[in-house]
Amino acid sequence: MKITVVGTGYVGLVSGACFADVGIEVVCVDIDQKKIDKLKQGVMPIYEPGLEEIVVRNYESGRLKFTTDLGEAIQGSEVAFIAVGTPPGEDGSADLKYVLAVADEIGQKMSDYIVVATKSTVPVTTGKKVEQAIKVALEKRDRALDFAVASNPEFLKEGAAVEDFLKPDRIVIGVEDERAEKIMRRLYKPFQLSGERIIYMDIPSAEMTKYTANAMLATKISFMNDIANLCELVGANANMVRKGIGSDPRIGNKFIYPGVGYGGSCFPKDVKAIVRTAKQYGYNLRVLQAVEDVNDDQKHVLVKKVKKHFGEDLTGMTFAMWGLSFKPNTDDMREAPAIVMIDELRAAGAEVKAYDPIAMDEAKEVYVGDKVTYCKDAYDACIDADALLLVTEWSEFRLPSWSTLSKLLKNKVVFDGRNIYDAKYLKEEGFEHYGIGI
Ligand code: UDX
Repeated sequence: MKITVVGTGYVGLVSGACFADVGIEVVCVDIDQKKIDKLKQGVMPIYEPGLEEIVVRNYESGRLKFTTDLGEAIQGSEVAFIAVGTPPGEDGSADLKYVLAVADEIGQKMSDYIVVATKSTVPVTTGKKVEQAIKVALEKRDRALDFAVASNPEFLKEGAAVEDFLKPDRIVIGVEDERAEKIMRRLYKPFQLSGERIIYMDIPSAEMTKYTANAMLATKISFMNDIANLCELVGANANMVRKGIGSDPRIGNKFIYPGVGYGGSCFPKDVKAIVRTAKQYGYNLRVLQAVEDVNDDQKHVLVKKVKKHFGEDLTGMTFAMWGLSFKPNTDDMREAPAIVMIDELRAAGAEVKAYDPIAMDEAKEVYVGDKVTYCKDAYDACIDADALLLVTEWSEFRLPSWSTLSKLLKNKVVFDGRNIYDAKYLKEEGFEHYGIGI
């Protein structure tokens, strides 16, 4: 079986490599020639555990190919996945120009029946727009070729993307054409999921499923952040509350960790986009609007604590920041709370010494530039710093040497944005510890 995956970003590259890994012939297409050249040399555009190995192995075996030529790639492909970006436009709605440009090109260049499946997170009704774009392109060519569209949203998490793809909790396939359904069934056969975990449905429902999943997860986080802030005011401990409610299986203990707000490429963008879609249909998604507002505020919570401790004016002070990426095990800096915090600290007159195990290059190149001093390791960042801010919970930050830190830091103060430190223990060690909701 041969397939094409258009777009070698997170979703496209991981999907392409994993499909190749189960024996499918995959051609990955991208318009960025440099990216394609690098991939051929085994250089990954992103950091993702296990990705390089799986890409290189399958490229060397010949099952995974890279090209900029979409027309050639789709010849003989039974499925073409669209996995290009859907960046938020000015008004928060997902911009479909890349998705529709790919659909148009497929229409221009296809020569046989093909299933065109969207893997990017796309607003409801995109399936129809993709179908229309292909139809128009075919009409221009005066060709009446048969094709089908499908929606196959991807639920992978950054930092665990390869594993999530190879061992998915569930696969959602929106398809309204019998022949296309058969092809999709064959494609996913190697993943050996029991029947009820491959869920077939109509296309709009599949599109809505993706947004609803991300929106629900974002809601859990904002809800807990809101509660954590209240816990502080009433003298409760958000960690205990989290454990208390998480033991109810209807709530569950995952995704209820308070912190400095969610970031990344999905939650912020998707929450905005679904709120926007609802507005277009004259409906106000009130809960999700609040989810977004809480998250925007939450990114400021840690620096607020810094100011409460040291005063509003931080002129001449230096802060050590551990972690820059929006979460551990990724170099992704998109919507990372660290960006907001750095700007806020600097605006108050402070300097920031930052360390992140993986994301410093990405931070320096695109998101943070020279606003901070990049340090060679976690301890280096603390030399002569006034306090430590823990922003991303990378494993290597979990058990530092507090005795070393007490010598390096000017003040024994820790602002723990992810509640990873034992407040009681730190107190015994003579540190002041500020957490979220505790
Ligand atoms: C998410 C979804 O999990 C995934 O299914 C979807 O396909 C894409 O979006 P991702 O953005 O990679 O994946 O990261 P995830 O691990 O879900 O974390 C998102 C954000 O929520 C991070 O900023 C994280 O720090 C934050 N978070 C998560 C919390 O603040 N508290 C929690 O309890 C869990």
